[in-house]
Amino acid sequence: MGQLFICDHPLIQHKLTYIRDENTTTKDFRALVDEVATLMVYEITRDIPLEQVDVKTPVTTAKSNVISGRMLGLIPILRAGLGMVDGVLKLIPAAKVGHVGLYRDEETLQPVEYYVKLPKDVLERDLLVIDPMLATGGSANAAIEVLKKRGCSRIKLMCLIAAPEGVKAVQEAHPDVDIYVAALDSHLNEHGYIVPGLGDAGDRLYGTD
Ligand code: URA
Repeated sequence: MGQLFICDHPLIQHKLTYIRDENTTTKDFRALVDEVATLMVYEITRDIPLEQVDVKTPVTTAKSNVISGRMLGLIPILRAGLGMVDGVLKLIPAAKVGHVGLYRDEETLQPVEYYVKLPKDVLERDLLVIDPMLATGGSANAAIEVLKKRGCSRIKLMCLIAAPEGVKAVQEAHPDVDIYVAALDSHLNEHGYIVPGLGDAGDRLYGTD
């Protein structure tokens, strides 16, 4: 079973309150989401492996640590996932970014891929799927499926806010995927919005509401 990690650092929780606030402007919303993404990736990368190297300081030669192992690939789900990419890249500028676009088929209600563009070396990377809102889990599961179909493994999911329904759906469909969120909210309402949530993340990021 994939684990659920709640990034409960006080700075993340403080900023999340203003992200939720309906009076927060588009400009501030975007800036806050960007900042929280940076703070979250600091927590998410806590377990990445290090290796020792020699470093020549102005004083002496010393053993010191650098990150080893696989490079990171970011996979934002269009469009709201884009709002967290730059915040992650601030700490991991060498990460490559793939994009997954999905729409919901009105008859089957299933997510359908309309755009997938992944880094060439995606199979050699640890992957972080990014979507601010984990609501039903439909999009996250479909995006993870897109990656697995192409042979990817070592996938994590990063969201701002999750509903218990979405967490359960991802844990059942992809028990190998750990989920990182800033908050686990109460439930989904009849329109599929997370309660209390923050409204439509894409609309609030891009001022389209
Ligand atoms: N997507 C959003 O943007 N908000 C929700 O509350 C649920 C899904």
